[in-house]
Amino acid sequence: MTIQVAMKTTKILFVCLGNICRSPAAEGIMRHLVELRGVEHLFSIDSAGIGNWHAGQLPDHRMRRHGERHGYHFNHHARQICRDDFARFDMLIGMDGENLHSMAVLAPDKKSRDKIVDISLYLRHHPEFRTVPDPYYGNDQDFETVIELLEDACEGLLDELLNR
Ligand code: 4NP
Repeated sequence: MTIQVAMKTTKILFVCLGNICRSPAAEGIMRHLVELRGVEHLFSIDSAGIGNWHAGQLPDHRMRRHGERHGYHFNHHARQICRDDFARFDMLIGMDGENLHSMAVLAPDKKSRDKIVDISLYLRHHPEFRTVPDPYYGNDQDFETVIELLEDACEGLLDELLNR
């Protein structure tokens, strides 16, 4: 007799303002970590933006360039978050207070609002950061900081979800 255990996938949506810098990087980094640990079957990972200005675009060339330096290939096509995302995903993870507030306004009900998560809760090595700061008008160092913070937070998140 074989025993089959149905394992539920955790559906994660990373959210930032434009969906061309932070959240597609978070998506790429999380995918990479999940693959490294061989747990792809346990997760579904996507990203979206509060705004629709960059819908359809690849990530910002600076975000892609800094990602490549660290071995990542960020290739998500930007899209705007929609109300249905609250039903489709288990966790909607925002990068800063503005993202969290915008999602709370969009969320159709309490169950949806309860799925909104602050990414900074998972930072273990950078407790001085309360957000993953928007690098759009920033410099090279700001993009490097985004990657460093996202690697830290995604590892913290994955460890927590895998219960280690
Ligand atoms: P993101 O960065 O929210 O990390 O994707 C931004 C991208 C675009 C804009 C702002 C932030 N924008 O104003 O177009």
